[in-house]
Parts: sequence; C-alpha cells; structure tokens
Amino acid sequence: MNQFALITGASQGIGKYMAIELAKKGISLVLVALPTAVLEETAQVIQTQYPAIKVYTIGVDLTDDYAAQKVYDRCQEKKIAIQYLINNAGMGYTGAFDSFPIDFLDNLMKLNMLATTRLIRLFIDDLKQQPKAYILNVASIAGLYDIPYKVVYSASKSFVYTFSRALREELKGTSVSVTVLCPGGVATNPDALAAVARMGRAARMLTTMPGEVAKVGIKAMFKGKAVVIPKFTIRLYASMRHVIPYPLQLKILGYFLRRKYKNV
Ligand SMILES: NC(=O)c1ccc[n+]([C@@H]2O[C@H](COP(=O)([O-])OP(=O)(O)OC[C@H]3O[C@@H](n4cnc5c(N)ncnc54)[C@H](OP(=O)(O)O)[C@@H]3O)[C@@H](O)[C@H]2O)c1
Repeated sequence: MNQFALITGASQGIGKYMAIELAKKGISLVLVALPTAVLEETAQVIQTQYPAIKVYTIGVDLTDDYAAQKVYDRCQEKKIAIQYLINNAGMGYTGAFDSFPIDFLDNLMKLNMLATTRLIRLFIDDLKQQPKAYILNVASIAGLYDIPYKVVYSASKSFVYTFSRALREELKGTSVSVTVLCPGGVATNPDALAAVARMGRAARMLTTMPGEVAKVGIKAMFKGKAVVIPKFTIRLYASMRHVIPYPLQLKILGYFLRRKYKNV
C-alpha cells in the first residue's frame, strides 16, 4: 500500500524540495498550492523522476474559507489516507504595520495560522488511525522573537511554534508525532539569491538553501523531534534570545529591520 504525504505550498520553494525528499523515499504525494501552471509543472517533474510513486495536485487558495475542507474532501474522494501532513504554505513581509491593507494582513493570518489549524483538525482523526503518522509545521526563526516591521508575520509564526509544541504534548500516547521547523532566511527565489550574493559572507552564513532546509526538516520529522532549526549559525541566533536582555533584543531587531525596510 502507498504511503501518502500532503504538503501545502509544494509548488516551489521549501515545499517543493520537501516533496522531492519524500519522493526519494518512495512516498506518494498530494501537492497543494495555488491553482497555477507552476504546481502542475512541479508535479510533472517529480512524477517523471519518480515513476513508482503517485503524485496528485490540489490547486486551491488556502486563504479561502472552505479551502481546508476542500483539500480534505478531495483526499476522501480519492481514498487517499494521509500519513504525513506538512503545513508549509506561508507568506511574509517586511514593512511598517500601518502600511499594509487589512486584506493583506487577513490573508497572511488565514494562510499562516488558520489553514494550518484547520487542516490538522480535519486530518487528525485519520492520522490517529495510522500505525505511525507525522505532522510537520513550518514556522520560522521569526516566531521566536518579537520582530518590529514583521509584526504580524512573527506573531503568526509564534502561533505555529507554540501550537505545534503544545499539540505534540497533547498527542503523546497516540501514533501522531508533531515537529515544528524554524528556518532562518532561506534563499527560495533568484532575488533572494542575488541579495545574498550582494551582501557577502555574513549574509551567506545566515542564509540557508531550500534543499538543505527541506532535508533537515524531513529528517527531523522522521526522527520525531519536537523542534528543528536548520544551520548552526541560525541555532546560535535563536539561542541569543535567552542571553540578550529583551529591551536590547527589540532595539537591535528594530534597528536592522528598519534599515532593511527603508533599504538603507
Ligand atoms: N523563505 C524564507 O526565508 C523563510 C524563512 C523562514 C520560514 N519560511 C517559511 O517557510 C514556508 C515556505 O516558504 P518559501 O519561502 O519556500 O515560500 P515560497 O517559495 O514563497 O512558496 C510558497 C508556497 O506556498 C504556496 N502558496 C502561497 N500562497 C498560497 C495560498 N494562498 N494558497 C495555497 N498555496 C499558497 C505557493 O504557491 P504558488 O506557487 O502557487 O504561489 C508556494 O507553493 C513558509 O511558511 C514561510 O513562512 C520561509
């Protein structure tokens, strides 16, 4: 019988690399992303490279109210039993809170928090029926700090982080393991790669490639780890929050993010 993984935001970036990691292990895939040609292309490339697995796509806007239900219903129709649920789709920004329209902020919260919560709620009973099942939620290092100029993004990732850890505890004694992945900056597109090249060594030390993030995240999920932070320098950065006094953290982050936002 095929094992199936469902990955949101699987058309590109970290999600696409996670799909490839799982395909390498012979795990069939349900790839969820916006209904675009990119999603279908990604599915086709993976299917061609790994003909032994099944690759399905569900093109859906996860900010829509009924999207999570639609994803669940589609899996039911196709009689697909999900064993790995990976909530990766997410959006972010850098900028002043009051410079963004309400719709943008709403969509960010719907995608980063609501879609994740709803998908887990819908699939949880089925996951518990599996002899072993895994949830991997993608948060961010931004969820570990209070970040000015990313206020809604960092708060949404804090939600994913605390939700995942608490749910993991609640699910102890069941067959379901919950892991939360907290990447630092990931060069997922040509602009990000060019920016890293421009900024030099320090930026490279703080940037991770999407393939590496995916590999480390999937490995940690299989090991049943609670939290995973890819790359040593990012783990170091994460641990600084226990050492640097909170007011100073805010000042430093505010200074750097303001410069980034204002492009100076
Ligand atoms: N990149 C970073 O530096 C970084 C750092 C820390 C954490 N993260 C987190 O890692 C995750 C993946 O990031 P990424 O950089 O790999 O993202 P990405 O390259 O921008 O890809 C985002 C994926 O999500 C899908 N998506 C976006 N909006 C959607 C919606 N409304 N409904 C359904 N699917 C949607 C996209 O589909 P389309 O292809 O159709 O647009 C795409 O597959 C996110 O949760 C992000 O917050 C990223």
